[in-house]
Amino acid sequence: MWGTKLAPAQPETAGPLVDPFGRAISYLRVSVTDRCDFRCVYCMSEDMAFLPKRDLLTLEELDRLCSLFVARGVRKLRITGGEPLVRRNIMSLFEGLSRHLATGALDELTVTTNGSQLARHARDLAACGVRRVNVSLDTLDPEKFRRITRWGDLSKVMEGLDAAQAAGLGIKINAVALKDVNEDEIETLMTWAHRRGMDLTLIEVMPLGEIEARRVDQFLPLSAVRARLAARYTLQDLPDRTGGPARYVRVAETGGKLGFITPLSHNFCESCNRVRLTCTGQLFMCLGQEDMADLRTPLREGDDRLLSLAIENAIARKPKGHDFIIDRRQARPAVGRHMSVTGG
Ligand code: 5AD
Ligand code: SF4
Repeated sequence: MWGTKLAPAQPETAGPLVDPFGRAISYLRVSVTDRCDFRCVYCMSEDMAFLPKRDLLTLEELDRLCSLFVARGVRKLRITGGEPLVRRNIMSLFEGLSRHLATGALDELTVTTNGSQLARHARDLAACGVRRVNVSLDTLDPEKFRRITRWGDLSKVMEGLDAAQAAGLGIKINAVALKDVNEDEIETLMTWAHRRGMDLTLIEVMPLGEIEARRVDQFLPLSAVRARLAARYTLQDLPDRTGGPARYVRVAETGGKLGFITPLSHNFCESCNRVRLTCTGQLFMCLGQEDMADLRTPLREGDDRLLSLAIENAIARKPKGHDFIIDRRQARPAVGRHMSVTGG
C-alpha cells in the first residue's frame, strides 16, 4: 500500500443543523406563494400587495433548497403559503419531494391549506405520500365564513374535506379563535370535527402584518376557551409535543384530539425545532422576529456547498425566542410580515 488512503474529505457543511441553544432543526416550513384566494380578516388586508411573480423561486429551485435541508437533517416538510394549492403546477413540487419519503430521508411531507382547492388535489397529494393535511376553518356558518374570509365559499372547503377523507388523508382543522366572531361556536366546531374523525387545533391571533382590524379586538385568550370547555368536557393532557407551540388534550367524551396554540400566553420557544422559508428564498429563523437570511443569492450561484454554508450561518443566528405582545398601547404589529409571507 502506498501510504494511508484518506477517507473522502467531509465538507464541514455536512451533518445536522443545530442552533446555538442546542436545538436541532428537523422541521422546515416552506411558503410557496404569498398569494391566496381568501382574504381572512385576521391575516390579510383587503387590498394586499403581493410579491411580483418574477421574485419567486421556481418550483425546481424550491425542490433544490428543500432537498438540501433534507440532506442536512430535516425530517419533516410542510408546504404552506398564502394558499399553496393556488400556485401553478404545485403538484410537481410534491411529486419531486416525495422521493425523499421513498428513500426514508424524510418522515413526513405535509401541507397547510384553506381547503378551497383540496377537492381537486386530494388524491394526488395522497399519491405523493402526503398522509395528513391541515385545513384552516374558523366557522361552520356559511355567512360567517364569508365574513371572515371575505372571499371564501364554505361549500368548496366542505367538498375539499370530503375528498381528502375519501383519499385517506388525515385532517387537522386549524381554527383561529376570534373574540365575538366564533367564540360561541368553538364547542360546535370541536364536536363536528371529532365526529368526523378530525383533530381540531385552536389558534390565538398573532400580531403579524398590518390589517384593518385592531388585533386587540380580535384576540381571544385560549385560557378562557379552555376553561369553558373544561366545564363540560374531560380534557386529558397528552404528552404529544411537536416542537411547536401546540399543546394537546384528548377529549374523553368525543375521543378526539384538541390542540391549543397560545403563542402569546405561553412560551414554547425552548423546544423550537423549525425554520421557515419564503417563496423568494428568505429563511426566517423565527416566526416572531424580523431577522432572516437570503438564500436565493447563494442558491442561484449554483454551489451547494456555499448554499449549505449560508444555511448554517443562518441557523447560527436563530434567536432564543419571540417577543409577541398584543396590548392596547401598541398600535403596530410585532412583526411587519403577514403570516401569508412567512407561512403558517
Ligand atoms: N394569527 C393567528 N393565526 C393566523 N393565521 C393566519 N394569520 C394569522 C394570525 N395573524 C392562521 C390561518 C391558518 C394558519 C396557517 O395560520 O388561519 O390556520
Ligand atoms: Fe389565505 Fe390562510 Fe391567510 Fe386566510 S389565513 S387569507 S386562507 S393565507
